[in-house]
Amino acid sequence: MTPRRIGPFEVAPIALGCMNLSHAYGAPPPPEQVQRLLLQALDLGVNHFDTAALYGFGANETLVGRVLKPHRSRIVLASKGGMAGVSFPDGVKRVIDGRPGAIRRNCEDSLQRLGTDVIDLYYLHRWDKAVPIEDSVGEMSRLVQEGKVRLLGLSEVSAATLRRAHAVHPISAVQTEYSLWTRNPEIAVLQACRDIGAAFVAFSPTARAFLTGKLRDVTTLEAKDIRRGMPRFAAENYARNLTLLPAYETLAREAGCTPVQLALAWLLSRGEHVIPLPGTTNTDHLRENVGAWEVQLSASVLARADALINQHTVTGGRYGAQSESEVDTERF
Ligand SMILES: NC(=O)c1ccc[n+]([C@@H]2O[C@H](COP(=O)([O-])OP(=O)(O)OC[C@H]3O[C@@H](n4cnc5c(N)ncnc54)[C@H](OP(=O)(O)O)[C@@H]3O)[C@@H](O)[C@H]2O)c1
Repeated sequence: MTPRRIGPFEVAPIALGCMNLSHAYGAPPPPEQVQRLLLQALDLGVNHFDTAALYGFGANETLVGRVLKPHRSRIVLASKGGMAGVSFPDGVKRVIDGRPGAIRRNCEDSLQRLGTDVIDLYYLHRWDKAVPIEDSVGEMSRLVQEGKVRLLGLSEVSAATLRRAHAVHPISAVQTEYSLWTRNPEIAVLQACRDIGAAFVAFSPTARAFLTGKLRDVTTLEAKDIRRGMPRFAAENYARNLTLLPAYETLAREAGCTPVQLALAWLLSRGEHVIPLPGTTNTDHLRENVGAWEVQLSASVLARADALINQHTVTGGRYGAQSESEVDTERF
């Protein structure tokens, strides 16, 4: 296993996303299961953990911070602000707010919940298009100067926004969805990251379970599962997407790995700066995912995977209209 880099940090080639330990894909697992999972990740050599103020409206940071606290010095802890839960008379709602004051509040709340003095990698979770990126990143830069944060990252930004931000303060990582079925970063952001020396952290690298081959029936997804609102997981589209899997699974068998390992190893092949960030609640799945960093794929297998599942062969958009409007889709 050859480590990858984020700024001065050496990290395992595959990270662990903690979102679904509190949020996103149905009912979260009990705290004992979370503890087992995180400790097993450490045992397997994972040393880069990703959370956010948004996940479980703070509950995820509290949970992850508590379990990882005794191991704090040997991990890279990443969190995000600029999108968080805000209390309204009718309940807590998700709000994107990139104003300097909001970012500072988010960061200080995160430090408290995580039980740490400093966050190693702090991302702007979404660029708030009502606020110049320079203002949001300017405040994040002040958090670095104050020692509250070590490195800065951005999530779901275009190459143009990345370059504007990088002119204010060095950006060490970009976190954006990337997998065989979501290729947007190939337009410009992967190259922009390479140019400025930033890591590219690929979220939802298993295509939110599609590329594991284990999610066959989307009608079984829980009512609160966010995939229910994603066009690719709508029953008719998903049925079409499932027709891509038999050839893909045959290819994985030929390559001597599982379908999810093929998906993760394909990502690792896209550049030394690419770090897949899968999420799981299950220790067997975790072991399987981490196993991908030992998988060697031939040029022919990589090319065939590339041709089988891509933006032209998949049916349905990745996000619904609201979420799509919140990402930065400027292309250059
Ligand atoms: N920056 C952003 O805007 C943003 C957005 C989304 C996510 N993220 C980050 O990226 C992380 C990962 O995202 P994600 O959770 O969507 O990634 P993902 O790994 O593509 O999808 C997770 C889903 O796949 C399943 N899964 C994973 N490995 C599996 C395996 N080996 N076998 C069977 N099922 C498997 C999980 O179920 P099980 O629990 O059953 O394994 C879960 O339902 C998040 O935790 C978060 O840190 C960031």
